[in-house]
Order: sequence, then C-alpha cells, then structure tokens
Amino acid sequence: MQIIQYPHPTLRHVSKPLLRFDAPLRRIVEDMFELMYAAKGVGLAANQVDLPLRFFIVNLESDADAREQQRVFINPVISRTKGQKVGEEGCLSLPGLYGDVTRSERITIHAYDLGGNEIREEVDGMLARVIQHETDHLDGILFIDRLTPSAAQAKREAIEDFEAIHAGRSERGELPSEEEMTKHWAKWEAKYC
Ligand code: CO
Repeated sequence: MQIIQYPHPTLRHVSKPLLRFDAPLRRIVEDMFELMYAAKGVGLAANQVDLPLRFFIVNLESDADAREQQRVFINPVISRTKGQKVGEEGCLSLPGLYGDVTRSERITIHAYDLGGNEIREEVDGMLARVIQHETDHLDGILFIDRLTPSAAQAKREAIEDFEAIHAGRSERGELPSEEEMTKHWAKWEAKYC
C-alpha cells in the first residue's frame, strides 16, 4: 500500500457508501495510520491509498504515540455548516504544496466509527477543516480545487509540475490503463458497496 499522488485517477473517483466493514478493512485502516504517521499527515482518505471506499482516518496529533487520538469516519456526511474561515492546507497526495482554502468554520459530521457506532458531532477548528478536506477526497475533490484565487495563481506552476511527472510516468507505461483502473474500482465496490 502506498499514498498515490495527484493527478492519479483514483483521487478523482467518487466513492459509494460502504455496506460493511470487515477484518481485512480493519487491517487496511491500521496500515493507513502507519503510512499517515510516516508521512506526518493528520488525515488520510481511502482513495489516497488507491481504494475507492468511503472512509477516512484522522489523528490531529499525527503521532503513533497518540493512538487514543485516532479516529475513523465511515460514510461521512457533513451538514449544518456555519461561518467561513481561510486557512492553509496541504495534502499527502501533493507533497510539499500548501495553500489557503476557505472552509466552513463549524460543521456537523454524521458518520460511523470502526465499531459500527453512529457519530454525530458538531465540530470546529482544525478538526472541522480536516473533516471537510477528507470528505472532499471521497467525492473526488482536492484542496487545489478550492484554493483562494491568489493561492491558485501562486501555486499553478507547482500543480503543473505534478501533472508533468504523472504524464511522464503514463508515457513510460508505468501506470495502469483506464480499463485496469475501472476494473480495480469495480472489484472493491462489488465487495463492499
Ligand atoms: Co488530502
């Protein structure tokens, strides 16, 4: 398992809700936390590890020693958004790139945890920002799609660099074909969605 980088097509895939969450998926979640800590991230969506599944993980401490802070959000839905706030974001699928994004200041998140328990919380601050960023991932939306106009202009070249690297790998046949990607998504969706 590895973190895929923009513009890998799975990052643009809109994931369908999960109908079940079994032991193999729990092990995948553990591996995702390890990857996230190694990359010093605070959130990671399943499609960032090439899985078209509707869940993401969060640990605002980004520290394997703070496992009690680990959260898993399955089938997340955001509602009752309030206020707006600009803040700098980054993404493990665009390493090294940071830019300002406007997000809702306060949200209500509805989801399920690993135990199948319902989560319904009103959150603000950093957690609200991370939840919005990760839920966007599951809808195929990246933070670079939501940059403030000045940030979008300032980061345009850096974004194009990621696209050029991807195009090069694609030309060298290092990436799966569109048909292979579609099959890969369908296989996971048939099993869990
Ligand atoms: Co991200």
